[in-house]
Amino acid sequence: MRNTGIAITGSGCAVPSASVDNQALTALVETSDEWITTRTGIKKRRVANNSESLSQLAAVASLKAIAMAGISAQDLDLILLTTSTPDDLFGSACQVQQALGANRAVAFDLTAACSGFIFGMVTAAQYIRTGVYQNVLVIGADILSRWLDWQDRTTCVLFGDGAGAVVMQASSSDKLLGFELRSDGSQNHHLNLAYSGQNQELTQGINISKGNYQAVTMNGKEVYRFAAQKVPEVIDKALFRANITVDSIDWLLLHQANQRILDTVAQRLGIPEHKVISNLANYGNTSAASIPIALDEAVRAGQIKPNHIIAASGFGAGLTWGAAIFQWGK
Ligand code: UT7
Repeated sequence: MRNTGIAITGSGCAVPSASVDNQALTALVETSDEWITTRTGIKKRRVANNSESLSQLAAVASLKAIAMAGISAQDLDLILLTTSTPDDLFGSACQVQQALGANRAVAFDLTAACSGFIFGMVTAAQYIRTGVYQNVLVIGADILSRWLDWQDRTTCVLFGDGAGAVVMQASSSDKLLGFELRSDGSQNHHLNLAYSGQNQELTQGINISKGNYQAVTMNGKEVYRFAAQKVPEVIDKALFRANITVDSIDWLLLHQANQRILDTVAQRLGIPEHKVISNLANYGNTSAASIPIALDEAVRAGQIKPNHIIAASGFGAGLTWGAAIFQWGK
């Protein structure tokens, strides 16, 4: 009999080298360090230059995760790259596979914006639970700096670039304790990176559309309201499925969008401040990468220890949101 329990055995992250602090943004838009800090908790963010790519960042993060798990790239059966900003619209997972030398693995992209990593973990878990795959790499990576309007102060101050990854392995004990995923397309218009084009006549009477993806637009207030209400609900549901209470949680690991959202969700769930993981100040909102980057930093800092229970939750465009309750380690 194959093992069909799930263990999360390795993590890694990578960020671009250039860091931009709040003060530097005052040269681009009418803003201030004070506004950005008090409204969001962000102090600086990393931005990728033209020679840095999403697949490179993802590969560096992945190599660290694979090394921590104690396996080799050839052991991987599946690579799931969760991203909204691939180097190639056809997907970047295969480039990561090639960079890693993971020649046995099937690789594909999965998009669920800032919820991507949680959706990816849960998707990966299904392949392990059915006994099909044993070693799966889940990556969350985004380079949103390429898709921001740097003249729009309501969005450009919020985001940063980066990648994080975990290895999930088949195990005799099951450490993915519960999850819940949600989507609501009726709220889609609140957060977009949408294609926009114009008719161009292809042949007589037949038009095609020619255009490009436009910059990120967000109704911040609506997304804030949505997150503050829906994230506690979905964590509650995942805890119910895990058959544990909120007191059992060692760490609350939320998508790093806004410190005020982290504080509000923790307060609504009755989770004390010292259990809330936050690295927003250093990286801003790195979309699909934010949860695995924060996870990896907390693991390497010795905060998250083997068998600690983590309540992780992502939320964002779609709108999508979800939570996964898991224990760290083999
Ligand atoms: O990753 C996907 C999930 N995304 C999120 O979870 C984001 C959720 N939303 C938020 O985090 C917050 O809504 C924001 C940080 C985006 C905005 O905070 P807010 O407290 O909701 O501010 P606001 O949008 O109500 O704006 C307040 C004021 C406005 O001026 P008026 O209309 O009151 O005169 C804005 O124009 O702040 C102004 N403002 C700024 N001022 C200085 C907006 N952006 C800036 C800025 N610098 N960068």
